[in-house]
Amino acid sequence: MQSNWNCLHFIIFISVFLLVLFTYYTSDISVPTFAFCTTSQKKSNCSCDDPNTVVLIWTWPFGQRHDLSCRVFNITRCLLTDNRTLYHQAHGVLFHHRDINGNLDGFPNEPRPWFQKWVWWNMESPAHSSQIPALNHLFNLTCNYRYDSNIPVPYGYLVPVMSQDEVFKVPAKDKLVCWIVSNWRAHYERVQYYDKLKNYINVRAYGSPFGHHLTDQDYTTIISSCKFYLSFENSVYKDYITEKLYNPMRLGSVPVVLGPPRENYEDHIPGDAFIHVNDFASPKELAERLIYLDRNPDEYMNYFNWRNRFKVVNSWFGHEHACRTCSYLQRNRGYHVFHNLNKWYWG
Ligand SMILES: *[C@@H]1O[C@H](CO)[C@@H](O)[C@H](O)[C@H]1NC(C)=O
Ligand SMILES: *[C@@H]1O[C@H](CO)[C@@H](O)[C@H](O)[C@H]1NC(C)=O
Ligand SMILES: *[C@@H]1O[C@H](CO)[C@@H](O)[C@H](O)[C@H]1NC(C)=O
Ligand SMILES: *[C@@H]1O[C@H](CO)[C@@H](O)[C@H](O)[C@H]1NC(C)=O
Repeated sequence: MQSNWNCLHFIIFISVFLLVLFTYYTSDISVPTFAFCTTSQKKSNCSCDDPNTVVLIWTWPFGQRHDLSCRVFNITRCLLTDNRTLYHQAHGVLFHHRDINGNLDGFPNEPRPWFQKWVWWNMESPAHSSQIPALNHLFNLTCNYRYDSNIPVPYGYLVPVMSQDEVFKVPAKDKLVCWIVSNWRAHYERVQYYDKLKNYINVRAYGSPFGHHLTDQDYTTIISSCKFYLSFENSVYKDYITEKLYNPMRLGSVPVVLGPPRENYEDHIPGDAFIHVNDFASPKELAERLIYLDRNPDEYMNYFNWRNRFKVVNSWFGHEHACRTCSYLQRNRGYHVFHNLNKWYWG
C-alpha cells in the first residue's frame, strides 16, 4: 500500500513537471518539415510521394503563370506555389530578376527562415538586365542559362533520340538564307553583320523591322523552308545561346551563329551542327561558303548527322526553372551563400 502511494506521488510529480515544461518551453528554432503534406493528403496517409520541398514563386516571370506540377521533368515530391502565406515553410524562394524594381521594396518583410534559400533567376543577358547594387549579397543560389550557375537552365539542350521517335527528314527547302528579327538596333553586332552579308547573298529577312507580323505557324513554316537560318544573338556573352539556335536546329534548318566563340557553342551542341560567322574572315567568305553548300547537297546534309543521335528539347520558361530549383534543393539541403552577384554577372 505504502509503495503504491509513493508511486502515485511520483507520477503526479512527473506529470506536473512535464506540464510546466511544455507550457513554458518553446524551441527557438523552427525545423523545416521535409515531408510536407497538403491537407488533402493528411486525410489519407502520408507516403513517399508527398512533397518534401516547397518552392515559393515570389512573382510570376513577366506576369506569366505556369503549371505547378513537375511531372513532365520526372521531378517528384515538389510543392511549387505562388501563395506567400507558405513563406515560412518554403525551402526556396524564386526571385525573377526582370521583375525586381531596382531595390528591395518588393522583397519579403519577414525574416528569412534559417533553412530557406533565395534563388536569383534570370534568362536575359547582362546587356538586357539592370545591375541592382542591393542584390549583391542577398541570394543563396543562382538559376540562369550560364553553365556555371548553381541551377543551370539553358534555353535548350540535346537528348538522345529514342526508338519511338519519328525518323528525322530534312524538310523541303525553297529559300536559301533566312532571318527573323524583332529587336533591331543599328549598333548591334548582328545588324552590322547582316548589312554586309546581304551584299553577297540573298537573305530573306522577316519580322517587325521589315514590316511583318509573324504568327507562331509562320515562324515554324519559314524556318523549316530555309536551308540556313541566321541564329544571331542580340548580345554576345558566354553561354548566352538562345532559342534562336535551338529552334532552327529543331525545325531542320542549319544555324549560322553569331554569339560567343565556337568553343563555347561546342560546350552545348556538336561542332558539325552549325556554321559560325567567326569561321570566316569576312561576310563575303561566309556567303561564298553558303552558296557552295547550296550547290553541294551531300556536304550540306552532313550538317544534320547529329540528328541520328540527338534531338532538341527547348526548356520551358519559368516552369522548368522552378522545377529544377526544387530538384536542386532536394539534393542540396546544406548552407550555401552566393557572394558578389554583380561581379559574377556584370563583370
Ligand atoms: C496509403 O498509402 C498507400 C501507398 O501509397 C496506398 O496504397 C493506400 O491506398 C493509402 N491509403 C489511403 C487510405 O489512402
Ligand atoms: C520520364 O520518365 C519516363 C519513364 O522513365 C520516360 O519515358 C520519360 O521520357 C521521362 N521524361 C523526361 C522528361 O525525362
Ligand atoms: C494560401 O494558403 C493558405 C494556407 O494554406 C490558405 O488558407 C489560402 O487560402 C491560400 N490562398 C490562396 C489564394 O490559395
Ligand atoms: C542564405 O544567404 C543568406 C545571405 O547571405 C544567409 O544569411 C543565410 O544564412 C543563407 N541560408 C542558407 C540556408 O544557406
